[in-house]
Amino acid sequence: MDQNALARSENDFPIHGPEGFEGMRKAGELAARCLDMIAGEVKPGVATQYLDDLAYQFVQDHGATSATIGYRGYRHALCISINHVICHGIPSEKPLRDGDIANIDVTVIVDGWHGDTSRMYTVGEPKVKAQRLVDVTYESLWKGIEVVKPGATLREIGRAIQTHAEGQGFSVVRDFCGHGLGRVFHCAPNVVHYEQYKDRMGTIHRAPDVTLREGMFFTIEPMINAGKPDSKMLKDGWTAVTRDRSLSAQFEHSLGVTHDGYEVFTKSPAGLDKPPYSVA
Ligand code: MF3
Ligand code: CO
Ligand code: CO
Repeated sequence: MDQNALARSENDFPIHGPEGFEGMRKAGELAARCLDMIAGEVKPGVATQYLDDLAYQFVQDHGATSATIGYRGYRHALCISINHVICHGIPSEKPLRDGDIANIDVTVIVDGWHGDTSRMYTVGEPKVKAQRLVDVTYESLWKGIEVVKPGATLREIGRAIQTHAEGQGFSVVRDFCGHGLGRVFHCAPNVVHYEQYKDRMGTIHRAPDVTLREGMFFTIEPMINAGKPDSKMLKDGWTAVTRDRSLSAQFEHSLGVTHDGYEVFTKSPAGLDKPPYSVA
C-alpha cells in the first residue's frame, strides 16, 4: 500500500493534483470500457464465470491489472451480484436466467491508479418492479454525484441518495459504503449512502459531517433494496444478500472533486449508462 496516500484520520484525506486526475481518467475509462464490452454478453444461459473470463482477458489485453484478484484472497476480476445479492457475488458456472438483474463490478489498475465502477444489467426481459428498482438506484447515484463540489459534505451526498431512494419506497443498504481511492484501492473517506438511520437497538447513526475539498477522489456506490435494508453474509465470506431476500441493485462511479464540482472518471464511452442496453 502507498503509505503517502493512506489517510491518518477521518478528516485527513489524500488530496490529488493534475497528475492524479490524469491517472484516474485513464483507469476509470478502462474500467468503464470493460463494462461496455460485457453489455453485449449478458444473456440468459451465460455463466457468470464466462463474463469474468472475458473481463480478465480484456484487462490483460489492455496492459492493466485487476485490483480484485488477490485482494484479501478474492480470485476474480468481477463481482457479479444477482437479484437478492447486494454485493461481492462470486462468478460461477451457474447460468443467468431470463428476468435476472445483475450488478457487475470491476476495478482495474492502470499505471498505479484504480478505476472502480459497476452497473446493473438486465437478463432477457426484466420484471416491472425490478426495472423500477434499477432506475431508482441509477437516479440515486446521480442525485449523490450532483451534490459533489468543494464545501459540500459527505452527509449531503448521503441525504440526497436516501431521500430519493426512500421517497420511491426502497431502502438504502447501511452495511457497505463507498470509499476513497487513487493509488490505494480502499482508503478514507468512507462514503455512506444515507444521512442517518436508527438501528434495532435505537442507536442513531449519522453520516460524518466531512467537508469535500478539491482533489479528493472517492466512489459513490449506493446499494438499494426493494425490501428492508438489512444484509447477511453467506458462508463463502464474500456474498452479501438481503436478509428478507428482496431484490437489490447498485451502480458505482469513481470521481474526483474539481474546483467547482466533480469529474466522473468512469463514465461509459459507449453511453451504456443503464439497462436496457441496446447492443448488437
Ligand atoms: N469493487 C468493489 C468496491 O466497489 C470491491 C470488490 S472487492 C472484491 O469497492 F474483492 F470483492 F472484489
Ligand atoms: Co468501490
Ligand atoms: Co466496485
